[in-house]
Amino acid sequence: MVKPRISVLASGKGSTLQNLIKCCEESKINAQIVCVISNKPKVGAIEIAKENKIPSFVTTNNNEIFQILDDFDVDLVVLAGYLALLNVPSKYENRILNIHPSLLPKFGGKGFYGLSVHKAVLEAGEKETGCTVHIVDDEYDNGKILFQKKVPIFSKDTPEILQKRVQAVEKEVYPTIIEEFLNGKNSN
Ligand code: GRF
Repeated sequence: MVKPRISVLASGKGSTLQNLIKCCEESKINAQIVCVISNKPKVGAIEIAKENKIPSFVTTNNNEIFQILDDFDVDLVVLAGYLALLNVPSKYENRILNIHPSLLPKFGGKGFYGLSVHKAVLEAGEKETGCTVHIVDDEYDNGKILFQKKVPIFSKDTPEILQKRVQAVEKEVYPTIIEEFLNGKNSN
């Protein structure tokens, strides 16, 4: 059977991309990553794509991004630390997923990325945090929530320690929800 075609959009280190590549190889996700797009050159995610012989592109142009996705006949777009806003054409509505490192709608929106999220969570005195997988629309961290997983906070946590704990959970959650989404669960 032909596997669904995924494109990963990433702006940073690429640990999420690396994990998704592994999950596809091990068939935890029954799909193939056909291209990687970044809005920044020389980032880890582009290196990882090259090492794995996955075609990669760098562009900040919204039309170009969706042209590439069309050219590669992509079924599902997965954001993995992608920090730019997309203007989603109707054809791609409900076909783009993101994972955010907080329990949305808390600590989401413009400026809430990376360590700034965990710093804000600790400063607010939250007792727990987590991660959220959601559909991507034209606003930051705004689309329909598909799944959330809670992560405990401990008194000695720093933003760095908390980020590590949340990212470990993300690496389990994201592949599972992507695979469920591809199988039509969670999709309405
Ligand atoms: C992920 O941990 C996720 O929370 C967020 O961005 C981070 C990206 O890290 N959306 P990496 O570049 O995949 O290592």
